[in-house]
Amino acid sequence: MAAARLTRLLASLSSLSSLSRASPLGCRTLEPTTCACSSAFDWRNRSASAQWRLQMRLPSCEPTAACHELSSMGRSAPDDSFEAEETSILIAYHHNSSVWFVKHWYMSDPFRSYLNSMRLLFRLVLSLRRAGTRLPIHVLLSGERHLLFERWLLEQGVRLLDAAGPDYTQFEHPRGSKEKPNPMRQATRLKLPKWANRHHRGTFSKLQAIALVQFRKVIVMDMDMIVMHNIDHLAFTPTPAVTFRWDCTHRDAHKMRPTRAWEMNSGMMVLQPSSVHFTRLLALVNNASTSAKIGIASDPSDQSVWRHFFPHVFELPQIYNAQKHINLSVWGWDQVLLLHDVDVHRGVRLPSKRVELIIHNLTSTANRAVRDVCKQAGVTDRG
Ligand SMILES: *[C@@H]1O[C@H](CO)[C@@H](O)[C@H](O)[C@H]1NC(C)=O
Ligand SMILES: *[C@@H]1O[C@H](CO)[C@@H](O)[C@H](O)[C@H]1NC(C)=O
Ligand SMILES: *[C@@H]1O[C@H](CO)[C@@H](O)[C@H](O)[C@H]1NC(C)=O
Ligand SMILES: *[C@@H]1O[C@H](CO)[C@@H](O)[C@H](O)[C@H]1NC(C)=O
Ligand SMILES: *[C@@H]1O[C@H](CO)[C@@H](O)[C@H](O)[C@H]1NC(C)=O
Repeated sequence: MAAARLTRLLASLSSLSSLSRASPLGCRTLEPTTCACSSAFDWRNRSASAQWRLQMRLPSCEPTAACHELSSMGRSAPDDSFEAEETSILIAYHHNSSVWFVKHWYMSDPFRSYLNSMRLLFRLVLSLRRAGTRLPIHVLLSGERHLLFERWLLEQGVRLLDAAGPDYTQFEHPRGSKEKPNPMRQATRLKLPKWANRHHRGTFSKLQAIALVQFRKVIVMDMDMIVMHNIDHLAFTPTPAVTFRWDCTHRDAHKMRPTRAWEMNSGMMVLQPSSVHFTRLLALVNNASTSAKIGIASDPSDQSVWRHFFPHVFELPQIYNAQKHINLSVWGWDQVLLLHDVDVHRGVRLPSKRVELIIHNLTSTANRAVRDVCKQAGVTDRG
């Protein structure tokens, strides 16, 4: 028994290192068009795709035209035919100040968490306006709502959607809740998986995007995104479209934990909502036995669900979801369309002064707007 397991383990390790050799990225300077997943293997090779899915627990990836040439996506603002495309930008946000939900550093003052989220959301909306988007912007809200902040969004032309939000009840104290679940309402609500990390609970509200069949396509964005150039052409990309990230600093560790070195980042996704897909997603996530199997320890967020849910995706290059620490040249940074500011509190500096200035301006304008709303609401602005 033990010997057979050891043989299997050794076999899987040796095939892993052959996959890692196939990944040519390393830590060198990357091109704006770099598509990490597509450069690691050829999606048309069925055995390589199957190996990839099994070992990395990621969908196979097909490069979009933008992986070859920047100009291929048509980077200018689109014409009027756009409205007809019924594509919307979608930002999902769930807020609940109960101690079962907020991150521990907000525990003593959960409203700080809301204010910090509003600073990011306002900045994203301002950046979309600056980039001249012609697409509608929808914010999918659930949990606790604060009308004065929502009014600012409405004034910017943002439309609000109301969602029940994922079902977070399993985090309540077993004896704490007396309320009987309403079966009709529960049937269409996603249950939060047991493996969901406390810091990532909010991300599960993004799963609801696939249910919004009033749109032909949705461009789902995290609130810590900043749009640097117009991205409306994403309405024409095949779906589902996402970016992958290869973490070069996990070069050694990834032999043992392959899923950790790779990430399919859900900070920006182009999805096609579908009731068939939503039903399938509900069946997957709300069934305790299937849900337990899809959680990836190094990625305990909505990303684990998407990684399993999509067998095959279209890959966009890293300039559609660029985190600040990636290795891009100054010229490369000027090409970035979507910056994913996950290091928002870490003060990472970029090589491009121009990009830094734009971010600085958007950040201070958003912070000022939040301060103004706080004044109207009679609450103390705090970071
Ligand atoms: C970025 O790439 C350059 C050259 O390709 C390399 O010398 C440098 O160490 C890389 N930086 C990081 C942080 O990986
Ligand atoms: C397909 O991928 C496998 C690795 O999984 C590799 O051994 C094989 O040479 C590839 N075939 C082609 C035609 O590239
Ligand atoms: C917040 O979460 C608690 C459980 O921790 C739940 O009882 C409550 O209904 C939630 N509030 C909202 C507005 O969703
Ligand atoms: C949950 O999933 C398991 C395994 O796929 C299946 O056997 C079972 O019937 C499912 N349960 C429900 C209630 O659908
Ligand atoms: C900052 O943004 C405001 C509008 O939001 C604009 O009027 C101003 O010129 C910008 N400043 C710089 C330095 O870009």
